[in-house]
Amino acid sequence: MDNRPVCVFDSGLGGLTAVRILRKLMPNENIVYFGDTGRMPYGGRSAAQIRLIAQQNLDFAQSFGVKAIIAACGTISSNAADLLLACPVKTVGVLAPGVRELAQTGKKRLGVIATATSIKSGSFQRELSALAPDAEVCALACPDFVPMIESGRYLPSDPEVRATVARSLSELKERKTEALLLGCTHYGLIADAIRDFLGDEVELIGAADAAARELCAYIEGASAFGDGGSEEYYTSGSIADFEALAPLMLGYELKSAVNHVPPFPLEVL
Ligand code: DGL
Repeated sequence: MDNRPVCVFDSGLGGLTAVRILRKLMPNENIVYFGDTGRMPYGGRSAAQIRLIAQQNLDFAQSFGVKAIIAACGTISSNAADLLLACPVKTVGVLAPGVRELAQTGKKRLGVIATATSIKSGSFQRELSALAPDAEVCALACPDFVPMIESGRYLPSDPEVRATVARSLSELKERKTEALLLGCTHYGLIADAIRDFLGDEVELIGAADAAARELCAYIEGASAFGDGGSEEYYTSGSIADFEALAPLMLGYELKSAVNHVPPFPLEVL
């Protein structure tokens, strides 16, 4: 038994989609979640800022004495993979597991959608061309998705959601994309709207889900099962906003009160 918690972090509430899967797969794990809402969105920040944020979040996660970490953020995973790898605690990002599952579909017309800073890094494209060299890849930044989702708009019946999805993903439709990686953890929330627009035949891979599966495989392999199933929540932004939206992302009620931590300084840059 290893009751040390797992920490999952993201810029906001999108990473809770990884917690949701983790909870299903491993109901007894103790989880600490950090949503850096006070500095959200990450997706348009410079790579240098993202790397600073990544290290600050890794340090914060380790302060809980965790046994493993999920960096449930495509922007960090694609711009700071070396920092995740160098962390003394086992850290799973969303890039490698997501790309692997996309390549494993065996489809030849692949798509990746993520934040602007993720797509600009070229990391998704590089990893994909290594794992699926014969596939044609369309990589698109979708800067309108995160602010829309964090404002609570993600239902497929919402006309604004439908219009934003259609406007952002028209190229994927034109290219007859067969499988698509949701390379930002927020995007799992609008998977139904994306499916409605692209059609059921397009296979959707959630990077958050893939990362949660990878972490489970690690915990099982290390026989490091926890016992308790507790959850602690931290936000650098509004507690009220976290409380309002988090249950929608998790699919269940919050298990404890939400704690506030002041945003870590970005003064270096
Ligand atoms: N959910 C994060 C990601 O996966 C960050 C989104 C943002 O803050 O822009 O990239």
